[in-house]
Amino acid sequence: MLHHIARGTKKTVLVAGGAGFVGSHLCDALLAKGHRVICLDNYLTGSESNIRPLMNHPQFRTVEQDICVIEDLGEPIDEIYNLACAASPPQYQADPVHTMMTCVVGTGNLLAMAERHGASLLQASTSEVYGDPEEHPQREDYRGNVNCTGPRACYDEGKRAAEALCFDMLRAQRVDARVVRIFNTYGPRMQPDDGRIVSNLIVQALSGAPLTIYGTGEQTRSFCFVSDLVAGLIKLMEVDPNPGVPVNIGNPGEFTINELAEMVVAMVPTRSQIVYKPLPMDDPQRRRPDIARAQALLGWEPQVPLAEGLRQTIDFFSTTVGARTSGERGSKVPRPLLAEGLNGLTAGAS
Ligand SMILES: NC(=O)c1ccc[n+]([C@@H]2O[C@H](COP(=O)([O-])OP(=O)(O)OC[C@H]3O[C@@H](n4cnc5c(N)ncnc54)[C@H](O)[C@@H]3O)[C@@H](O)[C@H]2O)c1
Repeated sequence: MLHHIARGTKKTVLVAGGAGFVGSHLCDALLAKGHRVICLDNYLTGSESNIRPLMNHPQFRTVEQDICVIEDLGEPIDEIYNLACAASPPQYQADPVHTMMTCVVGTGNLLAMAERHGASLLQASTSEVYGDPEEHPQREDYRGNVNCTGPRACYDEGKRAAEALCFDMLRAQRVDARVVRIFNTYGPRMQPDDGRIVSNLIVQALSGAPLTIYGTGEQTRSFCFVSDLVAGLIKLMEVDPNPGVPVNIGNPGEFTINELAEMVVAMVPTRSQIVYKPLPMDDPQRRRPDIARAQALLGWEPQVPLAEGLRQTIDFFSTTVGARTSGERGSKVPRPLLAEGLNGLTAGAS
């Protein structure tokens, strides 16, 4: 089994996708632990505004690159977190071939970099590898029910292939690769228009627009607050020895979409009505992580209740909706596609 190379407690950590929602919170947490952080991003769905407060930090470096065509960074790397990939359905379906290439070629490139540097690599996989699950809650040994030819396959199958690459490199003792399966995560710095259910409902309520629910609203999701996820990612990267198996990280609290909408309406003063629209293709009916493995291996479990996480997220959107500076590097996904996604692909975010 591969172990971390002992290079002292202060490390140089590459966060691919570091300007995104989760990546920017991870950069914050790693800098707070005293590490040097290199944020690599192509700004496809991330934004400079997410990392602006870090720009003058002496241990923070940004690199604008696409992981599909990555170049050497010119300094030793101890750890790589691979979060680079559009995560919301309208965004990853906007250029599905690039999404698949990001998952497979991009992850392959980062694994090759990790091998050259003797670095550990943590791959951000997803609950989407379980597809529309026939087992509930989802344990890591469940093999999933994914449509390999549908519109979500670029992401679901791409992430499955990336997992396979990581475990091949680990079995061959070439890279200390770790795989986290992230369940639906929300919090400040989500994009207001990226088509994910929590941000959609909050932004609609704040702007007085109808709250759109797809299907009956009785489909369930679990919602993990971003600080809980980041704590789990760091624990999985740091645990020794490498568990050698994928680990679910998510909040096992299970809510229907109707319950979520009712909570948002109760917390945001709004006259918005709820409207129901047809369910998009391949939208999973139930989602809830079994987190026994994360509890046993990492001593991790979520700390932030949904009501508290929603309050912080609503506070964020209250001050930022419509406030992003024009001309800054931010999501390059065309606006019409996002608007379309907002109206048609909401329920199954990442
Ligand atoms: N947020 C969730 O609920 C969730 C759930 C499951 C999995 N994940 C995974 O976690 C990771 C982060 O998700 P997020 O919610 O922060 O999404 P995000 O879209 O906010 O962040 C992804 C970041 O990766 C960058 N990126 C995309 N393709 C790239 C490429 N080819 N090269 C370089 N950079 C690229 C984007 O510009 C963005 O900054 C993703 O890999 C996603 O699949 C997230």
